[in-house]
Amino acid sequence: MDLVEARNLPGHVGIIMDGNGRWAQVRGQPRAVGHREGAAAVRRTVRAARRLGLRALTLYAFSEQNWARPEEEVDALMHLLKDFLLNEREEILDNGIRLNAVGNLGRLPALVRAVLDPLRSESQQNDCMTLTLALSYGGREEIAQAARELAKAVAAGRIRPDDVTADAMHAQMPSLSVGDPDLVIRTGGERRISNFLLYGLAYAELHFADVLWPDFCEKDLFAAIASYQGRERRFGLVGGSGASITRIAI
Ligand code: IPE
Ligand code: IPE
Ligand code: MG
Repeated sequence: MDLVEARNLPGHVGIIMDGNGRWAQVRGQPRAVGHREGAAAVRRTVRAARRLGLRALTLYAFSEQNWARPEEEVDALMHLLKDFLLNEREEILDNGIRLNAVGNLGRLPALVRAVLDPLRSESQQNDCMTLTLALSYGGREEIAQAARELAKAVAAGRIRPDDVTADAMHAQMPSLSVGDPDLVIRTGGERRISNFLLYGLAYAELHFADVLWPDFCEKDLFAAIASYQGRERRFGLVGGSGASITRIAI
């Protein structure tokens, strides 16, 4: 934690939590065991983020494409998700965390919705940190959804085609209601985005870590944030100490 400056914290951090399956495979265990350990890493990370004072944390827990995995694995993930929400309910409410979820939530099984929906509404007024779970989420799907909404508004005569601007698209994206991600971390060693927050990634800083998600701990989060704090964000402007760099307002 000594590495992290209290000022200049990224407001919104996204994490692509990857590597659960490999964590289990190297131990000769079924992939579901890796997912179970991954849930423990989620708990640690949420605590650390809250302690640090992050304003928003978005966790990529299940992609729209992950539905095509073997049924047994999908089932195990859905049950773990339900258990996670049940176990964390008190901690979320006691710590002023607002729980949100983005993605094609209609595809989630009833057993998940039965715990997710009440916790979302119960925690709605909390304002210390927004924890967003990206579930059945795809960045391209979210962009297409935003385009559909604007197309409908044009068709209904509520807006003109010229009103379809980058800002108007942005305003349609639930994943960006907490603002663009400032820092996106991917664990598990792959250097790719895998359909996460595509629209919001425009000026995000990226941090790739080799640690497999179940091994991710506080110090890995702090190291990622320290790396972020050592960078100069330019947003297309000129750099250097004399330049005044302000955030793009969208
Ligand atoms: C990330 O771990 C969790 C989900 C995608 C649900 P993986 O399950 O992708 O683990 P690896 O990448 O196969 O090791
Ligand atoms: C990204 O990981 C999705 C989540 C972490 C939920 P994947 O394991 O699904 O991505 P690929 O297949 O390696 O690109
Ligand atoms: Mg993976």
